[in-house]
Amino acid sequence: MTDEQKLVHFQERIDAGEKIEPKDWMPEAYRKTLLRQISQHAHSEVIGMQPEGNWVLRAPSLRAKKILLAKIQDEGGHGLYLYSAAETFGIDRSEMIEQLQTGKAKYSSVFNYPTLNWADIGAIGWLVDGAAIVNQTMLAKCSFGPYARAMVRICKEEGFHQRQGYEIMAKMMAGTNEQKAMAQDAMNRWWWPSLMMFGPHDSSSAHTSESMKWKIKVESNDSLRQRFVNRTVEQAHHIGLTVPDLNLTYNKETRNWNFGDINWDEFWTVVNGNGPCNHQRIAHHIKYHREGEWVREAAVAFGKKQQKQNSLN
Ligand code: 3HC
Repeated sequence: MTDEQKLVHFQERIDAGEKIEPKDWMPEAYRKTLLRQISQHAHSEVIGMQPEGNWVLRAPSLRAKKILLAKIQDEGGHGLYLYSAAETFGIDRSEMIEQLQTGKAKYSSVFNYPTLNWADIGAIGWLVDGAAIVNQTMLAKCSFGPYARAMVRICKEEGFHQRQGYEIMAKMMAGTNEQKAMAQDAMNRWWWPSLMMFGPHDSSSAHTSESMKWKIKVESNDSLRQRFVNRTVEQAHHIGLTVPDLNLTYNKETRNWNFGDINWDEFWTVVNGNGPCNHQRIAHHIKYHREGEWVREAAVAFGKKQQKQNSLN
């Protein structure tokens, strides 16, 4: 087949809802945008461990500490899962790590905000993982097989992440006035960065139209954002939290919560590396990646020894 015919056949496969596997023919632009998105998704999972890791030693109870440790461990596993999905394109993990550490690759802007107190851990679990669930349940229908399959397992664990965050917020809103104020303050600081997780509006999104043509995305940024808002506003009201948006109104016709303008200047400032914690997050990653080199070397050496042993048996 000519490349033209291959492209037509590829689109027919996508339109028929088939999964594209790593060894299948695919347009270079399909491979490129998926590698971009999957590697940045993996970076987000790993960097996202930092703001939460900040509170493991200061968790208010052993139960809270165990739950937070389990969540952070899950996030690391999600990152490894996604790096493996990206590696099916033939890229080496060290190259993806170099792209992250040198700023060539992005990660979700939401992780560049500080975690000031325990209520932030609740807000992150409830809002950030809640937004991730809306996005990732859509990605579980992605046309690229390894990515879609990775999402199935990740979404199961995100459910626990979101619930434990909401439990923290509910407990604090049923607590002392000081705890209520802490939870509301965390809500005020994490609400808008969580809405930014869904990306720019569809009208200004660089990738959405192509990603939807190829069913990398089966729903748009704005559609997913609206679903998250509709679900989360009700949850906030249920425990007595106020959504920090004076323009929030319920539209009986559309049954949507209409919300105010997102501060896109803030969004791009943070995405472009100038948020409150961008430099700290990357410096931390570089430091501990370097310190962990001996573990990676030992694991690779052990793997080679095992392979040699197996080949002799
Ligand atoms: N933070 C940083 N960059 C963002 C962003 C955000 N919140 N939203 C969009 N961008 C970037 C895009 O990466 C793109 O830049 P690039 O071309 O250099 O990659 C640019 O802004 C234009 O955005 P588009 O909407 O056109 O880009 P996409 O079509 O890729 O959509 C996305 C953006 C919705 C984030 C999509 O990439 C996606 O669904 N990614 C996978 C999910 C993901 O990465 N989630 C991040 C959080 S992971 C998480 O929360 C884990 C949980 O367990 C805590």
